[in-house]
Amino acid sequence: MKVAASILNCNFLHLAQEIKAVEAAGVDALHLDVMDGHFVPNLSFGVPILKSVRKITNLPIISHLMVIKPEDLIDKFINDSDGVVFHIEATECLDHTSVCLRQIHQARKLAGISLNPETPIESVFKYANQVEEILVMSVHPGFGGQAFIPESIDRIRLIKKHLASVNSKALIAVDGGVNGKNAQRLKEAGVDILIAGTSIFQAPSYKQAIEELRCSK
Ligand code: DX5
Ligand code: ZN
Repeated sequence: MKVAASILNCNFLHLAQEIKAVEAAGVDALHLDVMDGHFVPNLSFGVPILKSVRKITNLPIISHLMVIKPEDLIDKFINDSDGVVFHIEATECLDHTSVCLRQIHQARKLAGISLNPETPIESVFKYANQVEEILVMSVHPGFGGQAFIPESIDRIRLIKKHLASVNSKALIAVDGGVNGKNAQRLKEAGVDILIAGTSIFQAPSYKQAIEELRCSK
């Protein structure tokens, strides 16, 4: 089980130390939430922060674009990211999903598609063999610190089943309200990557929090 740290709720006054701390605590990747105030009712950070983070870590960085028209922004984030995840709700209505996937793959980076809790899981099925990751939102995107939506577990199970049925190698990531209490159930449902913000950055020991997420009994 891989664990990615979402820095949205870390202490930004000490961003470098926070990143070094999760790195030392054994996290597998960093997850950067990019919000545009349109796709989600919140703003977060953009390219300057990504570039600054890139300079101080060798950890894989995945940019999670919670934006409308990701096709207009992917090229700004792609160079300093190891992977880019965008939302199916932002692209499918305009038929831009394949355009976004092409942009990411042309840069030889990992491509992920994310879906919101109320989005039918079937909407991502046709991309099962074109993505490296499917990111299941287990909260409504826009804010850290929300409660995990339990129905996400069944959604993950069904997505996993579909991926297996079409021999897809795509990994399943889950994002939102992930903690030591639900990690085991998520693992059993088929999750490969747990993305956690609050449960790591609010913990007294990042190492312990990450270990609990990774191998919880
Ligand atoms: C929510 C973000 C998540 C969030 C995770 O819109 O995509 O990555 O920061 O934070 P927690 O773990 O606090 O739910
Ligand atoms: Zn995220």
